[in-house]
Amino acid sequence: MNIKCLIVAASAALSCWNVFAEPVLVPAPRKMTVRSGVYCASVADVGSIEVQEMRDASLPPEGYRLTVTTGGVSVASADAAGAFYARQTLRQLAEGAATGAASAPLALPCVEIVDSPAYRWRGAHLDEVRHFFGKENVKRVLDLMAYHKLNVFHWHLTDDEGWRLEIPAYPELTRIGAARPNSWKRGGKPHKVGDRRVIDRNTESYGPYFYTADDVREILAYAAERHITVVPEIELPGHAGAAITAYPQFACMPEGARERIWDAGWGNTVDVFCAGNDETIRFLERVLDHVCELFPSKIIHIGGDECPRKRWKECPKCQARLKAEGLKETNDLQAWMTRHFAQYLEKRGRRIIGWDEILSGDVPRSAIGMSWRTSQKNGTGDKLTSGAEGARRGHDMVMAPHLLCYYDYRQELADDPFQYIGGHVPLEKAYSFDPCEGVAEEARAHVLGGQCCNWTEFTWNEHDLAWKMWPRTCAMAEALWTAPAPRDFWDFYKRMEVHRRRLISRGVNCAPLR
Ligand code: ACM
Ligand code: ZN
Repeated sequence: MNIKCLIVAASAALSCWNVFAEPVLVPAPRKMTVRSGVYCASVADVGSIEVQEMRDASLPPEGYRLTVTTGGVSVASADAAGAFYARQTLRQLAEGAATGAASAPLALPCVEIVDSPAYRWRGAHLDEVRHFFGKENVKRVLDLMAYHKLNVFHWHLTDDEGWRLEIPAYPELTRIGAARPNSWKRGGKPHKVGDRRVIDRNTESYGPYFYTADDVREILAYAAERHITVVPEIELPGHAGAAITAYPQFACMPEGARERIWDAGWGNTVDVFCAGNDETIRFLERVLDHVCELFPSKIIHIGGDECPRKRWKECPKCQARLKAEGLKETNDLQAWMTRHFAQYLEKRGRRIIGWDEILSGDVPRSAIGMSWRTSQKNGTGDKLTSGAEGARRGHDMVMAPHLLCYYDYRQELADDPFQYIGGHVPLEKAYSFDPCEGVAEEARAHVLGGQCCNWTEFTWNEHDLAWKMWPRTCAMAEALWTAPAPRDFWDFYKRMEVHRRRLISRGVNCAPLR
């Protein structure tokens, strides 16, 4: 050990970033053995540390073995993702030992870490419809996801309040659908007008905000470098308001649809895609063609949640479809659409995922359910298919129960300056998430993993977003990476006291721990 390194190691040992204490890692690794001694890298930047990399096919997918000795650093992994995650661990080891002097060489504790994820879908969702964050903020989310070994970015690109993806064949989607005539006021209080819940509005228009194909390619490349799959979501048949403002002819009741949707201001609109109109089906196929051209993900999200049936019941075309297809009731139209698009995408080598409503009818076993509901009553008249029930029936499932995974729900912070949609997900509750909870042993292989959902009705900008995502996304990352619950929340909490400072030093508007 040279004298400079000795000073670094000694000063680090005296600080709370003690190189001789257990290194602080989030998510926690599966197995870590700390040995005496440090490796003194001659560089100050962890990215420049020389690492001996090798492939070891005996390691699990995305797993790695990271060895730091006084002589250097080596990494074995079965695949490139494993090597990448070893690098993320190394980054945290180095940050744990940093003294704060930018030019100081890094002193890494000697460790052997053997690590691999518990789940293959470790996701974060972002709603860019209710508020739009833009390329640089999305990249920042991807950076932080990668740092915590999350690997699926679920990009919510269309909904009632906006259409955020340019589709060359349908320019009105972004010319009209990417803007709305007013926006919700920050700090505005939701209140009732009749039976409608509304929030004070700004009078100026919002948008148009959207991504071009080039923007998307840039984000996809950025995500791929970080071993993150981007799963785009195109909502159908409900939450289709923005598309209908652009092309009212694809709704059951085109007359006045645009005005009704713009006026609704809150909640999902009753105007949805017409299930009986062949032109609507062709439109959605062409949109999905473009999505398949752009996105390499083998899985495409088709939404499927909260589709009101009111218009379908009244619409002659929808009722004609019902008859022609031999369907029993209006509800079956959703399953008909789900089947249609599952088959359409399957021919293009893709598989559908949808919110758990898609499993209410007769849909192919290949359809993946995204479980979000925990209540029988969601007002759409269909039957609940819980995550556990979906897995029991043989569907692969991604778990995102709103009571644990919706980070637009309140944290438990005194004087929290940010607004929430409601609910209550403090850090400990977020940490208690177990995707396999309630799932029968024999169905657990169908649980792909889980994700946090970041809906943004009350999230106006990147500072609001970071506050709601962090530190709770650290809890999500650990729940999905480490072995099944019960996990030790207090051990996590103590590590988070250090890790939160790391996030803040990276400029993340991370909320306090509670
Ligand atoms: C949802 O929260 N409507 C999926
Ligand atoms: Zn219709």
